[in-house]
Amino acid sequence: MNVGVIGAGYVGLTTGVCLAEIGHKVICVDNDKDKLDKLNRLEVPIFEPGIEELLERNFKEGRLKFSDDIGEAVKFSEIIFICVNTPPKEGGFADLKYVEKVARDIASSLEEDYKVIVDKSTVPVKTAEKVKETIIKYSNKNVKFDVVSNPEFLKEGSAIHDTMYPDRIVIGVESERAKEKMLELYKPIINRSEVPVKIVSVRSAELIKHGANTFLSLKISFANLIAEVCDAVKADAKEVLEAIGLDSRIGSQFLNPGIGFGGSCFPKDILAFKKTLEILGIDCSLVESIEKINERSWRRFLQRIEKELWVLDGKVIGVLGLSFKPNTDDIRNSPPLKIIEVLLNNRAKIKAYDPKAMDKTKKIFPNIEYCSDPYAVAKDAEALLICTDWDEFKHIDLKKIKELMLIPIIFDGRNVFERKLVKSLGFKYFSVGR
Ligand SMILES: NC(=O)c1ccc[n+]([C@@H]2O[C@H](COP(=O)([O-])OP(=O)(O)OC[C@H]3O[C@@H](n4cnc5c(N)ncnc54)[C@H](O)[C@@H]3O)[C@@H](O)[C@H]2O)c1
Repeated sequence: MNVGVIGAGYVGLTTGVCLAEIGHKVICVDNDKDKLDKLNRLEVPIFEPGIEELLERNFKEGRLKFSDDIGEAVKFSEIIFICVNTPPKEGGFADLKYVEKVARDIASSLEEDYKVIVDKSTVPVKTAEKVKETIIKYSNKNVKFDVVSNPEFLKEGSAIHDTMYPDRIVIGVESERAKEKMLELYKPIINRSEVPVKIVSVRSAELIKHGANTFLSLKISFANLIAEVCDAVKADAKEVLEAIGLDSRIGSQFLNPGIGFGGSCFPKDILAFKKTLEILGIDCSLVESIEKINERSWRRFLQRIEKELWVLDGKVIGVLGLSFKPNTDDIRNSPPLKIIEVLLNNRAKIKAYDPKAMDKTKKIFPNIEYCSDPYAVAKDAEALLICTDWDEFKHIDLKKIKELMLIPIIFDGRNVFERKLVKSLGFKYFSVGR
């Protein structure tokens, strides 16, 4: 099939290359000229394992191209995905101006042949209805189209795998014709691994995405609440949460305490969901608690550091990990950056290393010292903070780190190390809830 993907960010680019990989012809559209130039030179503007290979193969074999022209993609395609960003507005509600703009641009290019317009961006319930109204309002002719909600569940860092082998595909659709088109599109993925496909109403599909992200955030905040209790009574959150997670009704994933969640999705999606609840007059204190605990998580970590180091002014603090989670260069709402900001405000000297996120961080903190590896960070540091659980950090030579540090203290915000081992090497060691 011919497919258009509007917005070539984390979601749009992954969607585009994966749909090309399963045999469709794809035009990816973006209005960011730099991004398009890079993509046309086969440079991937984001770090995402496996994406480069797929981009190069499908581009060279003619199944994938990039454009700045939504009209070209609309004319070419049977199915058009909207994958633009939906950041929070002042006050927290999702800012849908990019979605609206794309809907208007699609409308002005529609002709008489039938199209399926798919909303893949994460949006509040009833957005698809607004997209439909917008298209009707701004198109001149007797256009035939359906608007489908097909929320995206990929995780940055494993986005290609998650798209090729998803846990489920959710298709919110009102017409049989659009449903058949979507099933045809995803057939190679569905057949390959017998993926459950949920055909639901458009409003349900929109709510599934916000509901899923709220629940995942809830699990993380719950783990952090348990960690707080464990710190207070000197119990071990790892032991407690592992045993809780063994209950098959609960499950062990996302029950890890740390310095809280970040990224471009959870914080903004739970905020948008909270706004939806407020508008509907439904009590949103559950969501507020998730946010409060999340905020407390990185602040508690900072308090520990301040308590231990006493005066921060002039102290050299090493930071390992800048991205909001491992295997991505994404630093949007990244807890490590919030921690660095406070430390800098207290005039600490920061040395930092991250396998992939340093270029992006340099734009926010140009004046901290960026190092080529964890050992350079440790040299002469009076404290070492583990802020992202990259695999690379799990395997560092702690003996060497100890020799390099001025004072051997580790604050492990992601519980990366075995407590007994680190202590036996002579470090003072603080982790979360242990
Ligand atoms: N990143 C994730 O892990 C993830 C996962 C699931 C869902 N989502 C959702 O998917 C959506 C996109 O997220 P993302 O992380 O890919 O965002 P992103 O910021 O990485 O990408 C959005 C892209 O859209 C482009 N764009 C904006 N307006 C445009 C326009 N008028 N015409 C053409 N291009 C335009 C931007 O230039 C950018 O490249 C959001 O709603 C997000 O919540 C993201």
